[in-house]
Amino acid sequence: MKAFRSAILRFADDGSALYEEDGLLVIGPDAHGRQVVRAVGPYRELAANYPGVAVEHLPGRIIAPGFVDLHIHFPQTDVIGSPSEGLLPWLEDYTFPHESRFVDAAHAEEAATFFLDELLRHGVTTALAFGTSHPSSVDALMGEAQRRGLRLVAGKVLQDRHCPDGVRDQTEQSLIDTEALIGRWHGQGRLGYAITPRFAPSCTDAQLRGAGELAAKYPDVWIQSHVAENLEEVEWARKLFPSARSYLAVYEGFGLMRARAVYAHCIHLDEEDRALMHATGAAAAVCPTSNLFLGSGFFDYAAARRAGFHYGLGSDVGGGTSFSPFHTMLAAYYVGREGRTKAGVSLSPQNLWWQHTAGAAQAMGLQGVIGNLQPGCEADFVVLDPAVTPLLARKTKQAASLDELLFSLIVLGDDRVIERVHIAG
Ligand code: GUN
Ligand code: ZN
Repeated sequence: MKAFRSAILRFADDGSALYEEDGLLVIGPDAHGRQVVRAVGPYRELAANYPGVAVEHLPGRIIAPGFVDLHIHFPQTDVIGSPSEGLLPWLEDYTFPHESRFVDAAHAEEAATFFLDELLRHGVTTALAFGTSHPSSVDALMGEAQRRGLRLVAGKVLQDRHCPDGVRDQTEQSLIDTEALIGRWHGQGRLGYAITPRFAPSCTDAQLRGAGELAAKYPDVWIQSHVAENLEEVEWARKLFPSARSYLAVYEGFGLMRARAVYAHCIHLDEEDRALMHATGAAAAVCPTSNLFLGSGFFDYAAARRAGFHYGLGSDVGGGTSFSPFHTMLAAYYVGREGRTKAGVSLSPQNLWWQHTAGAAQAMGLQGVIGNLQPGCEADFVVLDPAVTPLLARKTKQAASLDELLFSLIVLGDDRVIERVHIAG
């Protein structure tokens, strides 16, 4: 066992933040040998219980849960900042050409290494990630994550229509490949697999049906896709699936809505769609930097809260503009202000932080496992330096409440704030 003395941020079950100014975090193996949080709380109360345990003192620092990125595309690192009119031309002009390069295993390996370095540099310790349609892209990412001991969930993109040669897959083979990847990676150490239809417009009925059959056969495997991001995309989906009540209902019809299904964006939903999200246990990945960059629209936080479905934050790199959870949380604040219905909400700093840690973990069905520092949680955490820039030092010194401290970090923070990252202790 080992312990860290520092300020410590964690979350209660209701999503409110718990903060120890002078805390102790005790890490050690659980019954299965996983490095987990064994105890956490005020230093003065806990220290006497762990007399032989080495304590590292981190004055002036904050220990916080590693961030969870609920939606990201590992092959789109080089797509960040590609200018476009909107989603559909952006896919054609930048995304598909970049993704076609992943047929080359050496390129995929290099990109996987860079991608995971970048996530960790920004304090992101778990991601729910898209690969490309090439199964070897997933092998590259999973292999690299396994070497680093990361908890990561990823999947091969399914797309057997409406995309060019070089990224389009074959219906039957794509399902065979998906099942083989589930067998190879799902549950290997900390890794998980996600069945990954890119979005309904890029998948035939046969491919979506096959994906749904796999989702039923492997109930603890994740599902990830996109829905209702952009108005032209919504219109296209309606034309392609005229008998479905809505775009979201297409996924329901193929058995792709359940717990552990995470749908990116969920902007242009109606109340019935939101009720369906809640009833099925599916979750939304809110991707504000992407939605602002591609002009897609504004996630409606007030409506999501009324409907009661799970949601959390994702970067959506490379539609998203940053790997930084601080940038994503700030963009979420702007999006919340706007709201699709103009009845915006002022998201609290604690809630923004929760959406990128414990809330995102809950959306993945991994509450109590990652995204928090309560006893029993896996010991993935970051050490933050709240005084790393002159302005941050000046601002955070004046913070009179936890919300003021967290908001200073959200508004002014970036990768410089992340001093250290601990994976499984
Ligand atoms: N919809 C279908 N594919 C994509 C993608 O790669 N990025 C985003 N943002 N939306 C999508
Ligand atoms: Zn995406």
